[in-house]
Amino acid sequence: MHDVKTTAGLPKAAAYREILGQLAALFSGERSGVANAANMAAALYQALPDVNWAGFYFLQEGDLVLGPFQGKVACVRIRVGKGVCGTAAKRLETITVPDVNAFPGHIACDSASRSEIVVPLIRKGSLIGVLDVDSPTLGRFDREDAAGLGAAVDLLLLASDFGRLAG
Ligand code: SME
Repeated sequence: MHDVKTTAGLPKAAAYREILGQLAALFSGERSGVANAANMAAALYQALPDVNWAGFYFLQEGDLVLGPFQGKVACVRIRVGKGVCGTAAKRLETITVPDVNAFPGHIACDSASRSEIVVPLIRKGSLIGVLDVDSPTLGRFDREDAAGLGAAVDLLLLASDFGRLAG
C-alpha cells in the first residue's frame, strides 16, 4: 500500500509536485470516482500541513451532497450559491477564503476552521462537485495552493468516472 508522507517543510511548489505524483500512483488502474476521491481526501489530509478537513461534495439533484472526506463530521447538504462551497459551485471558480468569519454566509462545520479553499470539479463545462480544504490557521491558502489543488482536481477528473455518483 502507498504510504503518504507529510509535505511539511517543503516549499509549496515542491509539495504539490510530490502530492501529484502520489495521487497519480493512487489512481493508477482505478476508474471509480468514489474510490479515487476517497484516497485523494486521505492523501491531501495526510500530506498537507495545517489542515483540519479535506474532502468532497458532489452535485446530486441540484444540491452539493457530502462525499468522501477526512476530518470532523460535516454538513451533509449545501445548496448551490450558499457558503463557500456553494459559491464556488455557482461561480464555477476556485475560491480562497483567508478568514472564514469574514465570508458572508460561511457554513461552519468544524469550529476550528479559520481559512478555506474550494475548487470546483468541472468536466466538459458541467459541475460535478467541489473539493473543500479547511485550515485552523488564518490565511493558510494562497495562489500556489489554488494551482496545486486545481492540478490535483484535474488529475482526479482525468483518472476517474463519476457517472453514477454525480448528476
Ligand atoms: N465551510 C463550508 C462548508 C463545508 S465544511 O467546511 C466541511 C462552506 O462554507 O461551504
